[in-house]
Amino acid sequence: MNNTCYYQVQGDEVEIFNYCVEHDLPALIKGPTGCGKTRFVEYMAQELNRPITTISCHDDLTAADLIGRHLISPDGTYWQDGPLTRTVRNGGICYLDEIIEARKDTTVVLHSLTDHRRELHIERTGEVIKAHKDFVLVVSYNPSYQNIMKGLKPSTRQRFVGMSFDYPEAEKEIEILIHESKVDKETASQLVKLASDIRRLTDLDLKAAVSTRLLIYTAKMLSSGCNISKACRHCIIEPLTDEPETVKALEKLVHAYF
Ligand SMILES: Nc1ncnc2c1ncn2[C@@H]1O[C@H](COP(=O)(O)OP(=O)(O)O)[C@@H](O)[C@H]1O
Ligand SMILES: [Mg+2]
Repeated sequence: MNNTCYYQVQGDEVEIFNYCVEHDLPALIKGPTGCGKTRFVEYMAQELNRPITTISCHDDLTAADLIGRHLISPDGTYWQDGPLTRTVRNGGICYLDEIIEARKDTTVVLHSLTDHRRELHIERTGEVIKAHKDFVLVVSYNPSYQNIMKGLKPSTRQRFVGMSFDYPEAEKEIEILIHESKVDKETASQLVKLASDIRRLTDLDLKAAVSTRLLIYTAKMLSSGCNISKACRHCIIEPLTDEPETVKALEKLVHAYF
């Protein structure tokens, strides 16, 4: 196994990201879950040969979780940098995944980092850190309707260069399935066609469409000999819905394909 990160380029995202890096601009990546946002950032880290620190945001994430805190040892208290502070000092890509999940007071610490100042203010210690020349800030979120209320404050989002991602186009998604699961081309094509039909269904009460990630799960099970309706049931239908009616409708669709 080699460790190179495999990524199928979708459009001009590499070019735009490189401009961001060249000019020290922070980047915001939007797109549905499982469409390749994280994979892209990992790929860019590899291409730029910079370390990457990924922070998965959630609603308990505090500013201290990002910046750092005082800890107690037998010799007294000492300061320990959080992951954001470490990356600001040492350089590298700091990737805040699902930033929309973080509390608004947490994202405010990014403000001085995301404008011309490029510095991090650590209130607790009074320290102001100038970002390392190789520091890049990248955030991502899924702008689905469940997230509309959460939003990102305009004062935060207007500090970023924005890029929209979507599921890869059919030819590329087929390549991805083959690469990630070793499934044959014909099966991969069928799965991608099925997915594009499910993605078009608006009358079913689906909270999200089938992601590239789920297609890869399905393809992996198929390449180990799992039968097709079982693989689709467990890797596509069950993760998408709890509604018995919707399950039935999706099963029908699967049977029409395979
Ligand atoms: N453009 C792509 N090139 C290669 N693999 C991809 C691509 N898009 C999606 N994938 C595959 O789909 C999986 C899910 O993508 P990921 O980046 O984790 O999604 P997201 O961060 O958008 O939720 C990845 O692990 C990868 O296997
Ligand atoms: Mg992700």
